[in-house]
Amino acid sequence: MKKLVIRGGRPLTGEINVNGAKNSIVALMPAAILADSEVVLEGVPDIQDVHSLIDILNDFKVKTSFENNVLKIDPTQMQSIPMPTGKIQSLRASYYFMGATLSKFGEGVIGLPGGCFLGPRPIDQHIKAFRSLGAQVEDEYGVITLTTGSEGLQGTRIYMDVVSVGATINTILAAVKAKGKTVIENAAKEPEIIDLVTLLNKMGAKIRGAGTSVIRIEGVDHLTGTSHTIIPDRIEAGTYLAMAVAIGQEIRINNVIFEHIESFIAKLDEMGARMEISEDSILVHHSDDLKMVSLKTQPYPGFATDLQQPLTPVLTKAIGKGTITDTIYPQRIKHIPELNRMGANIKVDGDIIRIEGPTQLTGAQVKASDLRAGACLFIAGLMAQGETVITGVDNILRGYSNIIEKLQAIGADIQMIDDDQVED
Ligand code: EPU
Repeated sequence: MKKLVIRGGRPLTGEINVNGAKNSIVALMPAAILADSEVVLEGVPDIQDVHSLIDILNDFKVKTSFENNVLKIDPTQMQSIPMPTGKIQSLRASYYFMGATLSKFGEGVIGLPGGCFLGPRPIDQHIKAFRSLGAQVEDEYGVITLTTGSEGLQGTRIYMDVVSVGATINTILAAVKAKGKTVIENAAKEPEIIDLVTLLNKMGAKIRGAGTSVIRIEGVDHLTGTSHTIIPDRIEAGTYLAMAVAIGQEIRINNVIFEHIESFIAKLDEMGARMEISEDSILVHHSDDLKMVSLKTQPYPGFATDLQQPLTPVLTKAIGKGTITDTIYPQRIKHIPELNRMGANIKVDGDIIRIEGPTQLTGAQVKASDLRAGACLFIAGLMAQGETVITGVDNILRGYSNIIEKLQAIGADIQMIDDDQVED
C-alpha cells in the first residue's frame, strides 16, 4: 500500500502543465470501439483509469498501444464478450461500454460500475434512455444485460429527468448508429461531452447541439477511425489553481481553457486571489488575506462538484464564515473529518458544510477516501506545518498524472513511499 508523505509549508514556485481530461478520455475510449478502423487519441493522461480501460479493451480483444500520451485503439477484431465482473467494476466510467456495446453489437453484459463513493449514484436515466431507444435492459444483482430485437435501436426523443454527464454520454453512444433521429433534451453541457461529440463527428457521426441542453443525433451506419487530441483537464487545472492560491509564491498553470473553469476563477477572484489570465495559461501570484466565500455546486457551467473538495483547504486560510452546498453530491464530505484532524474548523450541518477561518493546518495521518478528497488532502498537506501522511493514494493516482514529479518540480517536499518502507 502506497502513502504520500508531505512536509508542508514550503514556498512553491514554477510551472505546472495540465494533462488531457480524465472525464473526457474515459468516454472517448469506449467511443473508439464504434469505429471500423484504428482511432488515435493524443494528449492522453497517464492515469490509472486509462490503464484500467486499456485492460478492459484488451479483454474485449481490442488492440491498443499507449506511448508518450498517444493511445492507439484498433477495434477491428473486437468481440462481444460479457463483462459481468472483474476489471469492468474498477471504475465508474466503464458503464460507457453499455451504450457502446449496445451500439456496436446490439447487446452487452456489463457489471455495475465502481468508482468514488459520493453518496448514491443511480443510473436510472441511462437505463431509461436505452429502453426508449428500443433496448431490453435487465438488472440482475448489479449485472446489466442489454439486448435489442432484430430491428435494432430506433431514434427517439428522450427527456433527461436530471442533468447527467454519464447518462448524456451513454445515450449519445447508444444512439449514434440507431435508425433515424434521436433528440436528447435537458442534456448535460460539459466540455467533455463536446469533446466526445467532436471525436464521433470526425468518425462520421451526425450530432449537433453538444454543449447545449438539446442534442440532435442523426443515426449513421458506419463510423471510421480518425485521430483526435483530448481537451485539457479543467478539474486538474482547478486543483492546481487552488493549490497555487493557497501556498504558491508564483505559479503558472499551463494548458488551461479559461472558459471551462470560469465559475471557479470567479470564486477565486471573489476570495481576493491575484491571477493573470493569458490565452492558455494562468499565472497565480502570492495572495495574503484571502476572503471567505460561500458556494453552491451546479451542473456545468456552474461551480463544478469536482472542485468543491480541492477548494475547501484554501477556505481554511480565509477570514470569516462561509458555506459549501454540493447540490450534485451532498454526501461528498469525506474530506471534512480529515481536514478537521489537521486543525480546520468545519462543521457538516445537514447538506451544508460550514467553514470558519482562518485556521493554521498542521500535519496529520489522513485518508484519501475518494479522488477529489485526495486532491483536497495533498493541498492541505502542502499548506500544513509539519508532516502529513496520506493513505488511499490509489484514489489520487486514478486522476492525477505524474503528481509527485509535478509537485517536486515547483519545490514541494513530497514523496510516495510503500507501506513497509521506513521513513528517514
Ligand atoms: N443521476 C441520477 N440518475 C442517473 C444519473 C445521474 O439521478 O441516471 C444524478 C446523480 O446522482 C447526481 C447527478 O445526477 O446527483 C449528476 O450525476 P452525473 O451523472 O452527471 O455524474 P457522473 O456522470 O456519474 C461525472 C463525472 C464525475 C462528476 C460528475 C458531476 C465522469 C467519469 N465522472 O459523473 O467526476 O463529479 O459527472 O459533474 O465523467 C471525478 O472526476 O472525481 C468525478 C467523480
